[in-house]
Amino acid sequence: MSPEVSDIMRAFEEARDQGLAAVKEATDGHSLEAARIRILGRKAPLSKARAGLGSVPREHVKTLGMLANEVQTEIEQAFAKKARAFGRTERTKRWERERVDVTLPGDVPPAGALHPLTKTIWEIVDIFIGLGYQLAEGPEVELSTLNFDALNQPFEHPSRSPRETYYVAGRDDVVLRPHTSPVQIRAMEAQDPPIYVLAPGRCYRRDELDPTHLNQFAQIEGLAVDDGITMADLKGTLEVFARELFGRDLDVRLRPHFFPFTEPSAELDVECFVCRGSGCRVCKQEGWIEVLGCGMVDPAVLEWVGYDSERYTGFAFGMGVERVAALAHGVPDIRYFYENDLRFLSYFQGAE
Ligand code: DAH
Repeated sequence: MSPEVSDIMRAFEEARDQGLAAVKEATDGHSLEAARIRILGRKAPLSKARAGLGSVPREHVKTLGMLANEVQTEIEQAFAKKARAFGRTERTKRWERERVDVTLPGDVPPAGALHPLTKTIWEIVDIFIGLGYQLAEGPEVELSTLNFDALNQPFEHPSRSPRETYYVAGRDDVVLRPHTSPVQIRAMEAQDPPIYVLAPGRCYRRDELDPTHLNQFAQIEGLAVDDGITMADLKGTLEVFARELFGRDLDVRLRPHFFPFTEPSAELDVECFVCRGSGCRVCKQEGWIEVLGCGMVDPAVLEWVGYDSERYTGFAFGMGVERVAALAHGVPDIRYFYENDLRFLSYFQGAE
C-alpha cells in the first residue's frame, strides 16, 4: 500500500469519526443541522479526503471510492437518524405545549341585558297595555304652547322661567320638555275620545343634581278621556297599577295636591312596601311612599284641544321612571342608573 493510499484511508476514517462525533454532540434540531452543513460541506474533511482521490494510483481508486461512499452514507444516515429522533421529541414537546383539552367548556362571553330603567318602563307599559291603553309619543323638543299654555299653566308660573326649563337657544317658544304632559295634548289633537294612552319619554329640567334629581330623566304619562269617567276610575286604575308593580296586598291612597292641568289633583301614595306602614328609612318614617301625580283633566285643557268638556271627562297621571325604579329596587340614588357601573347594572340582570 503506497503512503498516499494509507494517508487517504486515514483521512476518510478521521472524517467518519468527526462526522459521527458531530452527530453525537448535537443537542437539538438546530445544532444538528448546523453540524450537518459543516461536516458534509465542501470544505469539510470528507470533501478534502475525496479530493485526494485524484492523485492515487489507478488500482486503488475503486476501493478508496467505495470507502468514500461508505463513509459518506454512514455519516448521512447518522444525521438522518438523529434528525428523525429530534423531530419526534420536538413534535412531542410541541404537542405537550399546545395540548388542548377539547372536553373543557368554552368561555361564555358575558351577555348584555336591558337597562333597569328600560325594564321598568316595559313593566309599566305592560300593565297599562293589559288595561287597554295604547302607546303615544311626542317630541323631546317641544313647543312651549303645548308644554305650558295648552296645559293651563298660568303665564307667571315659575316653571316657564328659563331658570327651570331649558329653552332652545334664541327661542322663547321652543323648550326641551320638562315633562311628558304635552303628549296628552298631541294625543287629543290627533284623535277624538274615547282615548286611553300611555306615553313614556325623556324629559329635561334645570335642576341641581342630587340623589333624587337629574337634568335628564324619564317620565311616563297616562291619559284617559271618555264618557262619564270619574275620580273612582282614576283611583281604581292607579290601584291596579301600583299593586301590580309594588305588591298585590299593598294599600294605596290619593292625597290632595295641585297641578294646573288637573282639577281636582292628587298624588298617589302606596303603603311602604318595606315597613308596611309602620315607618322606616325608605318611606322617611311616613309609612307611605309618593309614586305619581294625577287628577281629573281640567276642562280648560279639554277645551283647548276642542273636546266638548260638557260631555267628556278624563283623568291623567305622570310619574318619574327613575323614582319608581329606585323605589321598586331599593336604589338610594337615582344617579346610579346613569353611571353604567356594571356592578350596579348586573344586579338587575335576569331580575324581571
Ligand atoms: N307633569 C307632572 C310633573 O312633571 C306630573 C303629572 C301630574 C302629570 C298630574 C299628569 C297629572 O298628567 O295629571 O310633575
